[in-house]
Amino acid sequence: MELIDGNKIAAEIIAELKADVATLPGRKPCLALVRVGEDPASVSYVTKKQKTSAEIGIESRLIFPPITISQQELFALVDQLNADSGVDGILVQSPLPKHLNELAVFSRIAAHKDVDGFHTLNLGKLAQEDDTGFVACTPAGIMELLQRSGVTLSGKHVVVLGRSLIVGKPAALLAMQRKAWANATVTVCHSQTANLAALTRQADVLIAAIGKPEFVTADMVKPGAIVIDVGVNRVPDATKKSGFRLTGDVHFPSVSPLCAKITPVPGGVGPMTVAMLMKNTVKARRQNSSES
Ligand code: GUN
Repeated sequence: MELIDGNKIAAEIIAELKADVATLPGRKPCLALVRVGEDPASVSYVTKKQKTSAEIGIESRLIFPPITISQQELFALVDQLNADSGVDGILVQSPLPKHLNELAVFSRIAAHKDVDGFHTLNLGKLAQEDDTGFVACTPAGIMELLQRSGVTLSGKHVVVLGRSLIVGKPAALLAMQRKAWANATVTVCHSQTANLAALTRQADVLIAAIGKPEFVTADMVKPGAIVIDVGVNRVPDATKKSGFRLTGDVHFPSVSPLCAKITPVPGGVGPMTVAMLMKNTVKARRQNSSES
């Protein structure tokens, strides 16, 4: 079994982006990060995004409206960032509080600043295999992780566990693209799938993005499979100072000995998501500057 080191691969991409940003004419790329409320996980993710931006030479602007912000007020904030020619990329951290319509907010972001790739236009471009759009960072990071680990998908059976807009759906669309690095046969499974284990056991590459701690157990994995664990679950752990530990959607102790390759949690997919956000922000800067 070989561990896929997301930290190492993300660091390579960050170094490449830093060199690339240094060659950009004019002002630095600028990423606006909108975090509604003080959810501890969101605070931690957004802080990481700010730190990585600084490392690359991307300017970041944090906007943190109160949890009581209304849908109209949040729209107005997004409109203001859309109109600001000094902002290249806009990210509204998910999850939003329940009184807000997340999908409506995502599609309010100007498509050419949608570095998260959740806008209807960018999802449409992904389905059309039009590379001028933005691809959601976590699935893009998974594909990059596989490529840079020497995994070819062509002709392989990729099973995606989970059908979210943020991971499952775009991961499936990417893996089946008509591209040399893709060309996979894809099955998407979810909470209503019958005989789930029979399907996951067929996977040459299993992408677990179901949001349930340690859901994937050894009996669900074919020996020699490649397992990508997208889960980031906080489970209570009295032995930890924080009171919790992070675990994936895969039961790592039983599954990892079976695999050819597997991503750990933390240190697998997570760092790649941030790296791809940075890549999308630099892409946005290039595309926007060629318009003005
Ligand atoms: N929450 C978890 N993952 C993501 C992501 O990729 N983008 C945003 N905006 N929120 C998230």
